[in-house]
Amino acid sequence: MNHQPVEGFSKLTKQGKIDWIVNEYLEGNEEYQQILKQYWNEDPDLQKLHEEFSENTISNFYMPYGIAPNFLIDGKLLALPMAVEESSVVAAASKSAKFWLDKGGFKTTIINTKKLGHTHFIFKVESHKLQHFFNFKLKQKLFEATEDITKNMRSRGGGILNIRLVDKTAEMDHYFQLKASFDTVDSMGANFINSCLEQFGKTLKEEVANADDFTQEEKDSLQVVMNILSNYTPDCIVRAEVSCKIDDLKDDSGISNEEFAWKFKQAVTIAEIEPFRATTHNKGIMNGVDAVVIATGNDFRATEACAHAYAARNGKYSSLTHCTTDNGVFRFWIDLPISVGVVGGLTNLHPLVKFSLALLGKPSAQELMSILAVSGLAQNFAALRSLVTTGIQKGHMKMHLFNILNQMGATEEEKQYFVNYFKDKTVSHHEVIAELERIRNK
Ligand code: MEV
Repeated sequence: MNHQPVEGFSKLTKQGKIDWIVNEYLEGNEEYQQILKQYWNEDPDLQKLHEEFSENTISNFYMPYGIAPNFLIDGKLLALPMAVEESSVVAAASKSAKFWLDKGGFKTTIINTKKLGHTHFIFKVESHKLQHFFNFKLKQKLFEATEDITKNMRSRGGGILNIRLVDKTAEMDHYFQLKASFDTVDSMGANFINSCLEQFGKTLKEEVANADDFTQEEKDSLQVVMNILSNYTPDCIVRAEVSCKIDDLKDDSGISNEEFAWKFKQAVTIAEIEPFRATTHNKGIMNGVDAVVIATGNDFRATEACAHAYAARNGKYSSLTHCTTDNGVFRFWIDLPISVGVVGGLTNLHPLVKFSLALLGKPSAQELMSILAVSGLAQNFAALRSLVTTGIQKGHMKMHLFNILNQMGATEEEKQYFVNYFKDKTVSHHEVIAELERIRNK
């Protein structure tokens, strides 16, 4: 069936949008109306709150919200909130947390907290002339013109740290940047940074127009292309690490401590040198990071983009974690670039985000950076631990089994039967269904 474009969809009521969608794409099937509506919250205020986070909202999309307890982070015992749909992620985090609990837990260090943004512009002038204008006139004006915008942030200890002129003409004709660094304290700072940058764009145009440093032809050539923060924050890094004597590594899979440490280090080195493996390795890290990012109302697309850009910073995509096994000591760490906030955005609006932050003891943005890096490291530890010993399917298959059994409406008794049944066998969809039919027909 060919569909027609719709005019004014956003102006329809919620029911109007649903009617249009279901009629146009789902043959008017009432069942689909019900699917959408069964996820509406019965509290109309709570429903409205969620609808207003985004646009054209017709339902809510649930994500499981789980807890990974026993995380000892810099001496504090925390339970991490994790919003994630993938099975085994929360279980893996909890397992790692427990493993490191009696070995001193996780230690973190904030390496730096600088955020970046750019005004990208085209200007047909000689670089040295522009640099002179920037140094002696423009830079000061940029700070002055943003004083109102930065006032609050400055009173909280943040603001614009520095502004530089960057000559990019070797890579693209007449391309320059105003590159600014910011301290946004406890906020992620996207609105703050973008507001400052948009003001930079305006001030740049005004100051160039009024300057006697340039000819009219040069002035006419100035084009501000865009003003936008960078989600790549290589100077906003947190390190999280664990370490213990190889003698204390004790893995329950049956391999020796030395073999475990050796294989684990090989697995990390493979991810350091092999981009195909690094991608999956880092994906696993982000399983842990994103789940806590989402639960705390932060932007997981930003944290993903940043982590992967950083992983490729040396020109070849590589592992975010590293491992050494020198002098009988196993050491495993992550350097994670991550920009998050604990004020602004969803943090005051979404009740579950409020809950998550309260559960974490109302962390500062830096403390949240630490928690996120730990969550990523723990997740990677759990994945590598399984991969170099039993393989990951054992754990995954148990969850897979429960998913199949839930789909089949299995009773608790039937579930217990199947846990025993598959104790020493590989779970397959086909076998679960066949065996379920067999026992139900008995
Ligand atoms: C699955 O979501 C993540 C893993 O594949 C990560 C890894 O292989 O390291 C288990």
